[in-house]
Amino acid sequence: MRTVFLNGDYLPAEQAQVSVLDRGFLLGDGVYEVIPVYNGLPFRLKEHLQRLQRSLNGVRMANPYDEAGWSVIISKLVKQNGDGDQAVYLQVTRGVAPRDHVFPEGVEPTAFVMTNPIKPLPEWYKQDGIKAITVNDIRWSQCDIKAITLLPNSLLRQQAQDAGAQEALLLRDGYMTEGSASNSYAVIDGVIFTAPKDEKVLPGITRDLVLELAQAAGMTYREEAVTAEQLRNAEEIWISSSTRELLPVTTLDGQAVGTGRPGPLWQQLDARYQRYKQEGEV
Ligand SMILES: Cc1ncc(COP(=O)(O)O)c(C=O)c1O
Repeated sequence: MRTVFLNGDYLPAEQAQVSVLDRGFLLGDGVYEVIPVYNGLPFRLKEHLQRLQRSLNGVRMANPYDEAGWSVIISKLVKQNGDGDQAVYLQVTRGVAPRDHVFPEGVEPTAFVMTNPIKPLPEWYKQDGIKAITVNDIRWSQCDIKAITLLPNSLLRQQAQDAGAQEALLLRDGYMTEGSASNSYAVIDGVIFTAPKDEKVLPGITRDLVLELAQAAGMTYREEAVTAEQLRNAEEIWISSSTRELLPVTTLDGQAVGTGRPGPLWQQLDARYQRYKQEGEV
């Protein structure tokens, strides 16, 4: 049976219970992280825990554990759930209090961690590339905070699913911000473009790695958002996230991207990404 962590206890998922007065449940008042684990080892853990702290600061919430504390919890849970490849989901909410918009005082945060096996992606995602649609970015103006309030992201992702696509690329004021659950990239004249790390996008841990790998490969990148028109004329489009890694988008709104096949820069970076996963070196 799967073990989860809840407020200091390791217990079977079925026995873990949270109050209906938890602010995560009533108000979506919480933040989260998703950390991939390969061969029992968390990938880029420090970076994920630093981003967690950043998100907590952004919503004025105390961190229930320091980095060492979280590391112990994650290692124990991963071990109890059989090591191998897993995705750790970690959530902190402001805790249990009578429903009120104003923050309660003296309340302990709720800390929850679970792990799920990482499902291998369908092979065709990399062989043929995925489909994406463009949609209006209907989210709030603090998308750099990894908040649990994912209704807009969920609506947009469902829109993609209904259109037979695997991701929705979001346009705000005519510029691409990111995907509904990923960062996004466009290659134009051989240069990789991705939106800058501001309040319009989540500062993706995979995004940082992709840019490090691009630099090591001698590729040129710019942290600048592209317009919808530039996107339509891009040679390559990619998305990245901790669980989907780096994927090529070969169909955008029903039209072929570039040659309609995964492009050469993606091929190189994916190879470097896989090597990094094995060897830990850029
Ligand atoms: C909106 C959004 N942007 C970007 C990402 C990618 O972030 P990371 O690479 O840290 O998984 C995610 C991940 O789920 C996301 O939900």
